[in-house]
Amino acid sequence: MAVDLLLGLQWGDEGKGKIVDALTKNYDIIARFQGGPNAGHTLEFDGIKHVLHTIPSGIFHKKAINVVGNGVVIDPVIFRKELDALKKFDLDIKSILLISRKAHLILPTHRLLDAASEASKGKAKIGSTLKGIGPTYMDKTGRNGMRVGDLELDDWKEKYRNLANKHEAMISFYDVDIQYDLAELEADFFEAIEELKKLTFIDSEEYLYQAQKSGKKILAEGAQGSLLDIDFGTYPFVTSSNTTAAGACTGLGVAPNQIGEVKGIFKAYTTRVGSGPFPTELFDEDGATMGRVGNEFGATTGRPRRCGWLDLVALKYAVRVNGVTELMMMKGDVLSGFKKLKVCTAYNYKGEKIEHLPFNIEADNVTPIFTEMDGWEEDLTKMDKFDQLPTGMVKYIEFIEKELEVPIKIVSVGPDRTQTIYR
Ligand code: GDP
Ligand code: IMO
Ligand code: MG
Repeated sequence: MAVDLLLGLQWGDEGKGKIVDALTKNYDIIARFQGGPNAGHTLEFDGIKHVLHTIPSGIFHKKAINVVGNGVVIDPVIFRKELDALKKFDLDIKSILLISRKAHLILPTHRLLDAASEASKGKAKIGSTLKGIGPTYMDKTGRNGMRVGDLELDDWKEKYRNLANKHEAMISFYDVDIQYDLAELEADFFEAIEELKKLTFIDSEEYLYQAQKSGKKILAEGAQGSLLDIDFGTYPFVTSSNTTAAGACTGLGVAPNQIGEVKGIFKAYTTRVGSGPFPTELFDEDGATMGRVGNEFGATTGRPRRCGWLDLVALKYAVRVNGVTELMMMKGDVLSGFKKLKVCTAYNYKGEKIEHLPFNIEADNVTPIFTEMDGWEEDLTKMDKFDQLPTGMVKYIEFIEKELEVPIKIVSVGPDRTQTIYR
């Protein structure tokens, strides 16, 4: 049985949490493959709104197993808060949540290093969520990191001390004013580690291999989005992991020839939180309307998200890099009421019209070329069949499909699990 992937095609926050939750009924296992608590995946069902950061979005289905893969970075302190928030749901966490021994740990000093690095950059800062993601992946690739499996060894505190000491020296190297009380942070961290140790640690690549062999259906859940990928995103304004399809192979130990459907998810417009280029960004009333109606505030940091028109040049790039086999369009309901909609189909790049994403998409180099389309007035949020959708929206969908050459299989018309139209 092949492993299906679900990943974001823009700059994150496409609605991955909602769709993974909605699709979990079709799967036995949901496995997160990269990222960490920089992610904020929102789910809504039965009048409940819940945000997950590290825990996969299949957790509310009781029967599905949720795996935190080796490619994920875990902050025990945030993880404990996530577990606390789940207590009221009466879930058998020890059985339905399994953690890879190879996943790396975010130390308190990783968070401090993140803050120091950002402060030292001044105006050029990445706009990181400051969860310690960059420094933790740096220690991973630098072969200095601590992994979940280390916690089963007797000398883990020694390993921790050595790494934290090194981090403190590195923090002092940055000439910035970062106030912290390490003893307090550590007390919290050690307590949280004890809670983490009560959970089930597994050799997740072996677990997933056996599950796959015995016919279990697996969905791999991505975090962030393709344009935040460390290799293919808008570097350096990216995150520190491979958010694209290849990241699911390295982040779970699934072989490339075992990948089935690649489900690519995008918003009907575009948003970005944090710094970095965004060619179709709006600074006018239309952008403000998207932000207001779409409630575009970061699920992890609460920062307002920058909003703009759909960018098909960037989306086409993401579809290709990931090998997307089916698309899901989210938040179409937010566009109801716009008289005209714009879709970027090419860039003017240094005076030349191009249809691919160049090395540098800073505003100095790139101006979007738009196709204008009629909007629609109807409220979509109560619709549950594709043929109920207004003509304007169907035309919008067909235009996107023609440009991207991939079918749109799901149209989401609201944040709730039930506001999902399957085609
Ligand atoms: P993720 O990081 O990809 O899981 O996305 P986020 O949870 O950070 O952001 C998506 C936001 O949009 C959340 O607040 C969702 O509840 C909400 N959302 C998801 N799908 C829809 C939709 O179709 N329409 C509307 N109006 N909101 C949606
Ligand atoms: P989900 O999974 C949107 C952005 C940050 C910043 C950059 C680097 O909810 O879609 P980092 O904390 O990784 O050092 O931040 O990436 N970013 C996200 N933006 N959604 C996310 O996750 C993000 N995770 C990181 O805002 O610009
Ligand atoms: Mg999010």
